[in-house]
Amino acid sequence: MQKDLNTIVADVRAKTPAIKTRAEFEAYKATISGPKGVLTDVMKGMGKVPKEDKPAMGKAINEAKMAVEAAFASVIEGLEAAELAAKIGPAIDPTLPSPDSTHGTLHPIAQVREEMVDLFRRIGFSVAEATEVESEYYCFDALNIPADHPARDMQDSYYLPDELSVNNVSKKGDEKYLLRTHTSTVQIRTMLQEKPPVRIVAPGRCFRRDTPDATHSANFHQIEGLYVDKDVTLLDLKATLDHFVKTIFGPKAKTRLRPSFFPFTEPSFEMDFFSPDLGKLSNKWLEIMGCGMVDPEVFKAVGIDPEVYTGYAFGMGIERIAMILQGVDDIRYYYQNDVRFLKQFA
Ligand code: DAH
Repeated sequence: MQKDLNTIVADVRAKTPAIKTRAEFEAYKATISGPKGVLTDVMKGMGKVPKEDKPAMGKAINEAKMAVEAAFASVIEGLEAAELAAKIGPAIDPTLPSPDSTHGTLHPIAQVREEMVDLFRRIGFSVAEATEVESEYYCFDALNIPADHPARDMQDSYYLPDELSVNNVSKKGDEKYLLRTHTSTVQIRTMLQEKPPVRIVAPGRCFRRDTPDATHSANFHQIEGLYVDKDVTLLDLKATLDHFVKTIFGPKAKTRLRPSFFPFTEPSFEMDFFSPDLGKLSNKWLEIMGCGMVDPEVFKAVGIDPEVYTGYAFGMGIERIAMILQGVDDIRYYYQNDVRFLKQFA
């Protein structure tokens, strides 16, 4: 009997790995543990076993049953895995390039961002990035934005809960985390890491508690520019912005700087431009960015000596530029991802 059991277990172990379908499995299982199966037969023979051999025999049968059940369980497991794999289909590597390169194009906002960044790259700017979650220090204090400034209001910015911990952004004391309201934060983070000369543009996403309408969105994009070196003057700023406007809007475009105020620049300006070739928007002064000479207070916050270095900075909304260039009159179209809209920029 023990010999029979050994043969049965050996047979089960040898044959089960090759089973490919449930039908095959059921048919084979019947030959082992079905009513007429070989293992069932051995068990039926227990009655004829002499009394003194019964305990040893019982134990041997149990062990054989367990071995057979384990082999059957692994067949079921294999069949289930194969069925699932057949349902899911072949493995996909989402990092591979599209087999059809005519599918998909850059989003219209990304197209304009790339055009702007390329232009600045060609005149010696490099691209800098920083986190979208910020502490109040980098978003406001270091930029000389006072504690009572309206931008710091709960109504205007998205603050994060105090208990939240953000590993890659440090904060001091009871300072709060918030979603950055502008890309000017990248000025601070860059100047803390690099010694002048610093010449960067920083494209990125910003967040403000604005109720969406034709020209506002709670989530939008900006490009910040910063140039710090010895002897950087307002003329350098003006020349760079002229070049930017003429490259983006055409050689006939003109710029003007209007006095304004920003806590992080002194003097500060709004830059307007004017172009005869802009369809409905032609021949009007359009305001597109804030700019100015880096305020000495900002230099002090990042440990750059304002007696030795000067710099200019500018910041603008990418959507604003895109809307003018692409003739889009409602910012919300950019975020609805309606292919009928997107295809117009393919
Ligand atoms: N951070 C300003 C904003 O979000 C834009 C800006 C104005 C950036 C003047 C600058 C600047 O670098 O010099 O409205």
